[in-house]
Amino acid sequence: MKRFVLAAIAAVALGGAAYADTIKVGVIGPFSGPFALQGKNFKAGIDAYMAVNGKKVGNDEVEVIYRDLPAADPAQSKSLAQELVVKEKVQYLAGFYFTPDAMAVTPILKQANVPMVIFNAATSAIVTKSPLVVRTSFTTWQTSTPIAKVAFDAGVKKVISVVSDYGPGVDAENAFKAGFEKQGGEVVQAIRMPLSTNDFSPIMQRIKDSGAQGVFAFLPSGPTTLGFVKAYNENGLKTAGIKLFAPGDLTQESDLPALGDAALGMQTTFHYAISHDSPENKAFVAAAGKAIGNPAELTFPAVGAFDGMHVIYKMIEATGGKQDAQKAVDAVKGLSWVSPRGPVTIDAESRHITQNIYLREVAKGDDGKYYNKEIQTFEKQGDPGLAAAK
Ligand code: PHB
Repeated sequence: MKRFVLAAIAAVALGGAAYADTIKVGVIGPFSGPFALQGKNFKAGIDAYMAVNGKKVGNDEVEVIYRDLPAADPAQSKSLAQELVVKEKVQYLAGFYFTPDAMAVTPILKQANVPMVIFNAATSAIVTKSPLVVRTSFTTWQTSTPIAKVAFDAGVKKVISVVSDYGPGVDAENAFKAGFEKQGGEVVQAIRMPLSTNDFSPIMQRIKDSGAQGVFAFLPSGPTTLGFVKAYNENGLKTAGIKLFAPGDLTQESDLPALGDAALGMQTTFHYAISHDSPENKAFVAAAGKAIGNPAELTFPAVGAFDGMHVIYKMIEATGGKQDAQKAVDAVKGLSWVSPRGPVTIDAESRHITQNIYLREVAKGDDGKYYNKEIQTFEKQGDPGLAAAK
């Protein structure tokens, strides 16, 4: 008893330090396999945030626990999340590169009393599956709507769309079609291909045969986007004058050296470019470049993770480190800050991020390096897909 009293007095004298907790954040993402670079970027964003802001929130120490999910695998995603919650006692779940992996975990959040902060998965409907989901990435509705106007304004009136046949692909197809028809354009054919497709020559033939003046495409960033853009060039579509329009997933910076001159001039719309000119982004690229080791490997999942950690730190602050998922989520509704990508807000109603979407063009710098050059800004874009998702 006496010892306890002394310990309590010592704790008060130390400013309550004896009551400090470790707050665990479980991060699920592809850290091995073909999409490992995307997971590596999650980690770079997290490490950069913690290097700049410290590992403590108040008296509490933040610890990140990683679980590897190499490919979209909803059953495995759910079991990893359950293990993180039950065994590791994480207070937050985060990461999620692929939509099906995020979707599979939403049903366990309420009972586990754990918020989910999505660093990437981009299907609009995910946020409607649980009130405990917050997203710091983008949706394909958000990124694919502006490119429809860009295509029409470029004089292209007939487009064929080609997307991966799953959530974000179907959303991208619908977003482009809605935007393009609103302008007066026509989508002459809509191809959905299996997520596992890696031979794109037959698709390129179908594009040629369609008579379309342009192609709109979405695939999740990784080896397949690189393969798709290469196939577009190698099958002569570019030289035939069939223009390619896409969200920025197709020209992530880490793929640009492999695409080379063939990608020069390609226009995409996206929430983030490594080249974004702002002090916040310069600081981010320096910290994330250091964290990843080779700055040429930096790409957009790093900024989703960096901003996701910002949201998690604000949640920990608001709850004083206590596990209260609803209070944590409520605390970030309407939260605004200047991200490396520009000004952002967590929309209070949808819990999805409102942000600028930029039109970019693949360019070559004076240093001979390829980059996405921002040439136009669509300001403060919410998610146009939410109405469709309800
Ligand atoms: C998704 O599965 O939601 C996803 C993955 C990669 C992307 C975009 C969306 O580049």
